[in-house]
Amino acid sequence: MTITPDTAADMATTEGFELHGNTQLNLAGEERLYQQLKRFWQPVAFSADLTDTPHQVTLFDTRLAVARLDGVARTFSDICRHRGSALSLGRIDGCRLRCAYHGWAYDAEGTVVDIPARPELNGKLVAQLPTYPTIEAGGLVWTCISGETPLFGPSECPELDDPAYRVLRVAPYEWDCSVARRLENYFDFSHFAHVHHGILGDRAEAEIEDYDVRRHGSEIRIDAGPFVEHTSNVKNSAVHHEGETYEAWKRYRVFMPNAMHLNSSAGVTEDFVLYVAVAPVSRRRTRCFTFVARNYALDRDEEFEAMQHVILGQDQPIVESQRPEELPVDLTAEMHVKGADAGTVEYRRWLISIADGTIELAPTT
Ligand code: FES
Ligand SMILES: [Fe+2]
Repeated sequence: MTITPDTAADMATTEGFELHGNTQLNLAGEERLYQQLKRFWQPVAFSADLTDTPHQVTLFDTRLAVARLDGVARTFSDICRHRGSALSLGRIDGCRLRCAYHGWAYDAEGTVVDIPARPELNGKLVAQLPTYPTIEAGGLVWTCISGETPLFGPSECPELDDPAYRVLRVAPYEWDCSVARRLENYFDFSHFAHVHHGILGDRAEAEIEDYDVRRHGSEIRIDAGPFVEHTSNVKNSAVHHEGETYEAWKRYRVFMPNAMHLNSSAGVTEDFVLYVAVAPVSRRRTRCFTFVARNYALDRDEEFEAMQHVILGQDQPIVESQRPEELPVDLTAEMHVKGADAGTVEYRRWLISIADGTIELAPTT
């Protein structure tokens, strides 16, 4: 970051650190985390959205083209080997990706197989596009740009295959924050009462009970509650008759480092599900893929979607206001509330070890 006279008053710089008010950013540590994240699967599209046109994706400041060729999701560099135009502007031509500019065609492995201006060069001119491993899991297309075998597995959402649940996809969106700031917001429990007062919390009932946090494989599992939520919304419509508020319990699976799955109770058998995976467009910009599911109020899609937009609209200015934009990898850089912040502290601890290159699965017993 460049320090200007305007910002110098509230920001001081020491070697390797930037100080922002009472927080500090360990530049080397944050950079290590950003680089290590390249070693994990990152979501690039909803599987259902990847149909007959290529998608342009920016991941780690790198432009990619994602396309389904012969039914199989593929990820290519988005820079044509001929004159560098975006292949994502091109078209899917059978099992090939064809450039919009001069029509070069690439096969599924990224090899140039057709040069329309000089067909006699086909098979003779050798040109290869960088490609990246691509899988589909949990309703999403994932890629990894490290060039190595990706670490950990992608996230999952059991309700996607459960006919008892109605699942919605929220249109992908981007926020000006880091991946870690964005994901942490979901299990930062003590904000619900304040940011979502009158919906998913109540300022008068802001206390957080102790809750259970544990690592399991590549996940952090959190069981927490009760959370006082209001019933005048579609999420809690099944318990509306019980009164103005309802005590919800929440069960999280945080898939390290960039996804989470939440089951939030909405009655005795009513189950509300939020499943989110996020990817770094850049250090301080994050793309978010969201599924909302439930096994009740199955005919109220529009209301569930509208509620999600209300909640996101409340969170966005708060999360985008956080400084530094990147989540500090030094636990002493921000202050933590004993018990209440246990989940987010565990997430930060794990990210710190990832930044340091210690990438280990937790026991699953
Ligand atoms: S730039 Fe792609 S074919 Fe020319
Ligand atoms: Fe929130």
